[in-house]
Amino acid sequence: MRLLITAGPTREHIDPVRFLSNCSTGKMGFAIAEAAIAAGHEVELIAGPVSIKPPAKANYTPVVSACDMLAAVMKYLPIVDAVIMTAAVADWRPAEQAQDKLKKHTMEPVIKLVPNPDILSEIKKVKTNQLVIGFAAETRNALEYAKDKLERKGLDMIVANDVSLPGAGFAVDTNIVSFVTQKNIEHLPLMSKQEIGCEIIRRLEEMSR
Ligand code: C5P
Repeated sequence: MRLLITAGPTREHIDPVRFLSNCSTGKMGFAIAEAAIAAGHEVELIAGPVSIKPPAKANYTPVVSACDMLAAVMKYLPIVDAVIMTAAVADWRPAEQAQDKLKKHTMEPVIKLVPNPDILSEIKKVKTNQLVIGFAAETRNALEYAKDKLERKGLDMIVANDVSLPGAGFAVDTNIVSFVTQKNIEHLPLMSKQEIGCEIIRRLEEMSR
């Protein structure tokens, strides 16, 4: 299969040197990309700004903002069999991005935000027969929100995790996830992100049969 995997945070610039972002490091998405390559799949990897190295065999497209990521996803969507949307896309961006560095004495201490496009919802509108897997990182009620997202974003599977649990979520090498589909919910124990990557690829292969 040819897979499109997104990873990392997005960065929403306020001016050339300041931005809004989140704690995602890209580890989970890169681990899935590695597992996919090891299983013999081709990988289009699109990631926001991260400080880790992408797998050598991935076709890597670095991006900055959510709008950049949406454009890159739409470019590759027609040529892939499945999408795994691991990226922690920023929900909002500044309404205006200043061309020059803002000066503290002249700017108002208020930043007006506008919503970013929801990439999965945009995929849902135009996709043909691609399988789509999303992520749901929450700090509480992870499963409840995951079921809602599965429906709303038109997903085949969602990987839910409570990022407030020790050993789970951002910037650590392990995670605790549940796989949620229309038919069932499967809880996995604490695992390395590499092992979770392999499990996700295995489920994807099963779904594509
Ligand atoms: O709604 P929430 O951000 O919790 O949904 C998480 C899932 O949606 C992830 O798979 C994430 O990559 C995706 N997402 C997206 N576009 C956004 C925000 C999140 O595709 N603007």
